[in-house]
Formats: sequence, structure tokens, C-alpha cells
Amino acid sequence: MSRLPDKSGRSILITGATGAIGAALAEIYAQHGVTLHLQGRNAVKLAEVAERCRLKGAHVLMQCLDLRDSVALQDGLKVLEPLDLVIVNAGMNTHVGSAGESELLDEVEALLDVNLKAAMVIVHAVLPSMRMRGSGQIAFVSSLAAYFGLPVTPAYCASKAGLKAYGEALRSYCQIWCIENQAATCFRSPFCLTPLTNLTPCITSANNL
Ligand SMILES: NC(=O)c1ccc[n+]([C@@H]2O[C@H](COP(=O)([O-])OP(=O)(O)OC[C@H]3O[C@@H](n4cnc5c(N)ncnc54)[C@H](OP(=O)(O)O)[C@@H]3O)[C@@H](O)[C@H]2O)c1
Repeated sequence: MSRLPDKSGRSILITGATGAIGAALAEIYAQHGVTLHLQGRNAVKLAEVAERCRLKGAHVLMQCLDLRDSVALQDGLKVLEPLDLVIVNAGMNTHVGSAGESELLDEVEALLDVNLKAAMVIVHAVLPSMRMRGSGQIAFVSSLAAYFGLPVTPAYCASKAGLKAYGEALRSYCQIWCIENQAATCFRSPFCLTPLTNLTPCITSANNL
């Protein structure tokens, strides 16, 4: 696991800022001199997180959008440049059914759009400017699930393994262009109980199988 990025970035984008980890990261990075761009779908939660960050001195701008909408995401990113640090944190989970049924295909597709495709859309939007400036950092929030497939969340594990591989490849790719600040960092969050990891009904049923 790589080091967490430092606070040197003055313009920072955090996706999934309405969630448990995203909101915590936003508050960690909130300080005078920092512009925080916070993304999420839940406008009420986004405003609450933004207010807490403003109280810590940060300049905060909000973007309420659905990451599955690539066009809206690309349009949103265009107005944010240049960014010093991008934390690709938003994620969703799916699970097998309570009687052991396969994951629902539409949920799997949505998961891949949020956990993997949106990360790539973001990279395509922000990397050219980082390359021109020769500095910048993109951090991907992967998971321990990238290292070992868990039986109740197959698609989630695949998406996080894909994200980990993408981040590793990107780091080597960026070194070719001499982008400073460890251009792509992939870190795995330790397990914590959040809406995303609340699989209690499914785990209970799996234990009963
Ligand atoms: N919790 C853990 O133990 C754990 C462990 C390893 C890795 N992670 C990773 O850490 C990251 C954050 O997880 P968390 O535990 O903080 O989960 P969380 O509280 O459920 O937060 C998920 C965040 O992703 C956003 N999101 C989901 N679907 C979206 C969409 N279609 N468009 C835009 N935003 C969307 C949510 O926004 P809205 O609520 O506004 O829709 C929310 O801000 C995820 O990538 C997760 O895989 C978590």
C-alpha cells in the first residue's frame, strides 16, 4: 500500500464526498488555502459536508451528479481544472441474493460504471493537464477485496481488482512523462462499517446455506 497523499494539493477533487470515507477525507483536507471540489448525488449530505469543511477554512465548491452519467461527469470536470489532487473514492456494492441467487445484472453494470468506468473518465479528463504541468496526483480508493475474491460480492471484488491494476499501470505510465508527486496512488481502505459494506442480510443468509 502506498502512502496517503499529503495536503500539498491546493485544488482537490473528492468523489463520493457524501459517503463515510469521502466526508472524512474532505474534513481532513479542509484548511485555509485549499479549494475542495466535492462530488456526490445526495445534495443535502453534500451541503452538510461542505459546511463542515468551510468552517475549517477551506473554499468549497459542490458538484451534485451521478457518476454513471459520463457526459455530465466530463462536463463537470471541465470547469474544475487545474486540479492538484484527485481522490477517486466513490463506490457502490452489490451482493448475491438472500437465497444465494446471482447478483442482479443491472446492479453489476451500475457498479462497473461507478467503481471502474467513472475512474477512467476522470483520469482522461484530468491527466492531460497534469502532464502539461508536470505535477499532480490521482488517488484511487481500492479495497482488500482487490486481493481476494469474497463469495458474497463477486462484482465488487472484480471492480476493485480492476481499479488496483489500473492505478498500478497508470503510475508506471505517468513516470514515462515525468509527472511529479507519485502521479497515481492506489490505496486500500481498511474495513469499516458504512452503508456500502452493510451486507448483513446477505451474510446471514450465506451462513445458513
Ligand atoms: N467501508 C469500507 O470498509 C471500505 C473498504 C474498502 C474500500 N472501501 C471503498 O471506499 C470508498 C468509499 O466507501 P464508503 O464505505 O465511504 O461508502 P459509502 O458511505 O456508501 O459512500 C459511497 C459514496 O459513493 C457515492 N456514490 C455511489 N454511487 C454513486 C453514483 N452513481 N454517482 C455518484 N456518487 C456515487 C455516494 O454518493 P451518494 O450517497 O451521494 O449517492 C457516496 O458518497 C468506496 O470506493 C469503497 O469501495 C470501503
